[in-house]
Amino acid sequence: MIKMDKFIINGGNQLNGSVRIGGAKNAVLPIMACTLLADGTYSITNVPDLRDVRTMKKLLESIGAGVETDGGTLTVNTRNCVNYEAPYDLVKTMRASIYVLGPLISRFGYAKVSLPGGCAWGPRPVNLHIEGLRKMGARIAIENGYIIARADTLKGAHISFDLPSVGATGNLMMAAALAEGTTVLENAAREPEITATAQFLTSMGARIEGTGTDHLVIRGVPSLHPADTLIIPDRIEAGTFMVAAHMTGGEVVLEHAEPAHLAAVIDKIEESGARVTIEDRRITVASDGVVSPVNITTAVYPGFPTDMQAQWMSLMSVAGGSSVLTDTIYPDRFTHVAELRRFGADITLDHNVAIVKGVAALSGAPVMSTDLRASASLIIAGLVARGQTDVSRIYHIDRGYEHIEKKLGALGADIRRELETLIT
Ligand code: EPU
Repeated sequence: MIKMDKFIINGGNQLNGSVRIGGAKNAVLPIMACTLLADGTYSITNVPDLRDVRTMKKLLESIGAGVETDGGTLTVNTRNCVNYEAPYDLVKTMRASIYVLGPLISRFGYAKVSLPGGCAWGPRPVNLHIEGLRKMGARIAIENGYIIARADTLKGAHISFDLPSVGATGNLMMAAALAEGTTVLENAAREPEITATAQFLTSMGARIEGTGTDHLVIRGVPSLHPADTLIIPDRIEAGTFMVAAHMTGGEVVLEHAEPAHLAAVIDKIEESGARVTIEDRRITVASDGVVSPVNITTAVYPGFPTDMQAQWMSLMSVAGGSSVLTDTIYPDRFTHVAELRRFGADITLDHNVAIVKGVAALSGAPVMSTDLRASASLIIAGLVARGQTDVSRIYHIDRGYEHIEKKLGALGADIRRELETLIT
């Protein structure tokens, strides 16, 4: 018998009130990997309660670290790291496990990390991570599904990325921090989570210039030391709640958000008819529920994030006209289209371009989560759909949204979690 959680949503309630935005998943994961770079004790606060964080905790523990969780604080002790391996069982549930490759090879001269393989929406290669480490002098073989990396000492190198990969930038930055000499990363990713990782490395004693830009210069140092940090707010969680507020025609205050990281999303949501006010770390989204069609094209930061494409599609499904959504980062990231059609959404897909013709109303349906952001799009569609929506396989959402049903419920949504029996 297989049992899994599902959400049951009765659509039609407005969202009103305030919600606290949690720490950013995509910042905490590389930051946890950074702790492998120096022996000692680290305190990381504003850590969200997510399945991916628990997976990274298990991975660090399997390497030999001690990781304690106390509310939103993680204490990581890396004094006994002896097993330089990321096993398939962990990597297959979370690709971000690849983040331990850079620190392990640069600190210990050896790493064995399962090759992530594809994911629900396409190939997602890691060639840029491997090519960069090779340029720094690592000897890398792919054997039995594992990346086996060896190096006596990593040497600084000039690395110009063909495209600005978040993961490769993070991994090579961590590797370069302890390498001999200077590493230049050109066309580097500058997502806020990468900037936060660079700032954390700097607080550990790394010498990084160009933080926040696409040109990073990392002067290797012989050793680093532990540091403490506070995780930045999750801009994608915030963006998801902004879309949900607009769709349901409510007024939602996002507390502990970082408006500066959300400029592209705020511009688009205002263009589609919501009113947005910003006071320090608080963003208020107010809407009468009338959604204008607005095109988006995903791009690297500060462009519109690919991690908001699916949620934007739900919003556009109920817009008063047609919009064009293009994903330039992941051309295959459209598994939610078939599920959104089950609500009555009118979407045509041609390669990486979706044309969404807004319909007057969506109707509740049984749907299935296919990945993290796709799940978010189905939940917010369910919030406005007429009648009941059952979203199954929600283990995807628990990877990256902290207690989403509690947060939505507190804002007035009718949503509950139930255990579903899939096969008997
Ligand atoms: N790419 C390559 N070769 C590589 C690495 C990437 O061709 O070696 C390509 C990818 O196929 C893609 C593009 O480069 O077309 C960008 O991929 P990137 O490496 O930037 O993505 P990532 O590091 O694997 C992170 C986030 C994703 C987010 C992307 C893009 C984490 C843990 N994950 O992935 O987040 O979509 O950046 O912003 O930070 C999510 O949170 O739902 C999520 C998927």
